[in-house]
Amino acid sequence: MNIQKILNIILSLALVVLLIKVNTTPRQTAEEPSETIDYTNIPKKNIGNHSQLYPTPTTVIGTTVNGKINWLAIAHIGNIGFDCLAISMHKSHHSNQGIKKNQTLSVNMVSESMMIPADFVGMKSGKDVDKSTVFEYFNGEIENAPMIKSSPITMECRVIDTYDTEHHDNFIVKIENTYVSETVLDENNKIDFNKVKPLLFEMPNRGYYKVGRRVGDAWKEGNKMNQN
Ligand SMILES: Cc1cc2nc3c(=O)[nH]c(=O)nc-3n(C[C@H](O)[C@H](O)[C@H](O)COP(=O)(O)O)c2cc1C
Repeated sequence: MNIQKILNIILSLALVVLLIKVNTTPRQTAEEPSETIDYTNIPKKNIGNHSQLYPTPTTVIGTTVNGKINWLAIAHIGNIGFDCLAISMHKSHHSNQGIKKNQTLSVNMVSESMMIPADFVGMKSGKDVDKSTVFEYFNGEIENAPMIKSSPITMECRVIDTYDTEHHDNFIVKIENTYVSETVLDENNKIDFNKVKPLLFEMPNRGYYKVGRRVGDAWKEGNKMNQN
């Protein structure tokens, strides 16, 4: 056997070994947890006083302004207790006029599949554009709180208070009823958020994200704490 043949055999063997290795090395997919990082010893930089409490769920608020349905995207929204929400809306928005008059609104969770129309109603104002037909809607028990048919979780709400700040009307609303698509409920009527696929939002880089995989059990993980 000449030297050229031996070299060819060695090269072929090396290629086979390389291919086997590539196919058996586990690849990190979007579904797998990323490495956890301990920030204890990483220096912190003061970047100012803007809230960085992100990601938040993206929602679309449904209102009626001067008799016409209007939708807008809202991400500055949060739970107060179990049946109330705080919704922070810039005073310049068209929707605020309807909410102040009617004292009612709907909160619609935005699923990944609703990203494009939800972003649209967050880009255009009802002052300039008729957004009334962007979503198919249904009515619940209270007036002027249209709810989005394509949203898996939607709540009809009444304003119970308003916390006024320099640039924002911060509506405190009580949830009167919550409507959930049957396909996202399990046999115990609990919502499976893997099926809801809430669209998450973060302000600093204006990005949308999806929810990752479950990594722990709330009110249980703490039991693993070493308390010695
Ligand atoms: C993803 C996203 C989230 C938003 N969140 C808020 C918010 O929390 N508060 C707010 O005042 N405006 C928010 N906006 C901006 C309003 O949705 C936007 O200015 C809208 O056009 C106002 O509509 P309107 O004038 O018809 O009421 C958001 C926009 C987007 C795209």
